[in-house]
Amino acid sequence: MPNSNSKISLATRPADEPSAVKARSSVRRVIRVAFVSTTLICVWLTVRFPYEVESGIEHLLDGPNRVNPQTLHLHGEFVESNLGSVEEQGGVTVRMIAEQYLFVPQCVVVPTGVPINLRMTSADVVHQLTITGTTNELKVVPGYIVETRLQFERAGEYQMPCHEFCGPGHYTMRSRLIAVPPEQFRELSREARMSCAKQ
Ligand code: CUA
Repeated sequence: MPNSNSKISLATRPADEPSAVKARSSVRRVIRVAFVSTTLICVWLTVRFPYEVESGIEHLLDGPNRVNPQTLHLHGEFVESNLGSVEEQGGVTVRMIAEQYLFVPQCVVVPTGVPINLRMTSADVVHQLTITGTTNELKVVPGYIVETRLQFERAGEYQMPCHEFCGPGHYTMRSRLIAVPPEQFRELSREARMSCAKQ
């Protein structure tokens, strides 16, 4: 015997307007199309720009100061073309990589009297960059971007040896920094700032 209550409720439920049904199904279609296109775009991006997608995900998961030491040369802030000194945000930024047993670049030119933001990371083990004649030092740890502020009032050449025992080649690990007056710095090409080559 069927339930009379349910019969009543069914009978009294207002029939859906055809326009409401149409609207609902078109909303569903839009959602489906959006979902499928987003998925397709994500798949395409991953195939077309694998390194960019990977570094974007790393950035989201690890925060802005983490880097993958294995892919430094492939993408991101520490690709070769980005190393050395560049004028940025009213000062100068120097980017270097520490690796067994050298600092890359091997020599950087910076201007005197200007704040310098030194950003570094390691491709392998822990190193420590020091600048002779100053109290500046920077521990460079693989997987992280470390940063320090420098300023050179005196023009000249500074040695930058590694001060953390990082393997048998540790004692040969050093780089040079040459501070020049700002007008001279401005005239140097990007390559000259990275290699300390005379112009
Ligand atoms: Cu690098 Cu010691």
